[in-house]
Formats: sequence, structure tokens, C-alpha cells
Amino acid sequence: MDTADGRMRLSIEQVGAEVLHQPARAVEPCELESPAVQALIELMFATLAGTGVGLAAPQVGIGLQLVVIADPAHAQTSQDVELFRLQERVQVPPHVLVNPVVEVVDGQMAEFFEGCLSVNGYRAIVPRAQTVRVRALDHLGQPVDREASGWYARIIQHEVDHLAGRLYIERMLPRTFVTAASAMHWSALPIEEAKRRLGC
Ligand code: NI
Repeated sequence: MDTADGRMRLSIEQVGAEVLHQPARAVEPCELESPAVQALIELMFATLAGTGVGLAAPQVGIGLQLVVIADPAHAQTSQDVELFRLQERVQVPPHVLVNPVVEVVDGQMAEFFEGCLSVNGYRAIVPRAQTVRVRALDHLGQPVDREASGWYARIIQHEVDHLAGRLYIERMLPRTFVTAASAMHWSALPIEEAKRRLGC
């Protein structure tokens, strides 16, 4: 728990923490009614705010199949606006996916830089399926069944990977692994140009 700036935040496990490398266990629907799990969800959203767009329970040290997603998609510069357009990145309201199962609907791969709060300070180009279908439970145990495309599909694939003990570093184009600071430069280039210059 980190309360340095007055906001309750959970600490984020970093690559190498065992919990990030092992499959998480399914959540029993009755567990969702417990105050402990509801408090966990609330704290995960608080932890995510302002730092990322998705967080999986193993990233806060809890080996449960539960993720929180919220993408405000706040473009701050005209460069952001253009990148968001290419990424098909749109606002995604806060929601929870419990025991999610993902199926690829459109296997065409989209390539963009992505990062992970558990691989702090780095980015890499990661190919992800363009459209997926996700079946899960929500925070109240109600069934969720929806298709997602573009950046939202990427978020889902990234977070669901966490529940299987996978990080993006095993899906990335290895030559495109760069610091977050330099990724500002690389993300501004057309993706094929960035790949070429990085030696792909
Ligand atoms: Ni991640």
C-alpha cells in the first residue's frame, strides 16, 4: 500500500515477482459478494487512475482472474489525437472482467507500442489481434459477452495474458524494446518506419 500522495494505491509487482509468472485462479461467483473482493476492485481502480488503462489482480500480488479496465483516452497533444486515431483508441468506461475468456474474431494483427505497469519504464511493439470476443463476469457476477476492436481489444488481450502469467515481453518484437522516454520519439513515427529503424 502506498499513500505517499494521500491517495490509497496498491503497490505494483514488477517482472520477476512470482505472482506475475503463474496462472491466476478463477474467482468463485460467491466471492464477488465479499467485502474483501469489492474493496480490492475499488483499490485497483484507484491504483490505475492516472497511471494506465488496465490492471490485473496478479499485478497487485493477488493471483485471481480479475482485471479492471478504464481508458479515459485523454489526448493532450495533436500528436496524441493522430496516434489515437491510428490505434482506434476510444474512451472505455471503468469496468471489471472476472474469469475472462478471449476468442479472436479478427486475427489480423495490429502493431503498436505498448507498455505495462509491471515492466516499468519500457515499451515495445506488440502485435495484437484486431478484434476479440470476451466472455466474463462483471463485478456483480453478471455475465459479460462483447466484442472489442482496436485499442480496447489490445487492452483486453494484454490484461487477460496477465491472468495466464504472461507479460507482453513474450509477445513483443524484441528489437523494438525501448525505454518509455525514447518511445515518445518512436511512437511519433509511422510504425513501419520505427520497425525499420530499430532493425526489424
Ligand atoms: Ni500489464
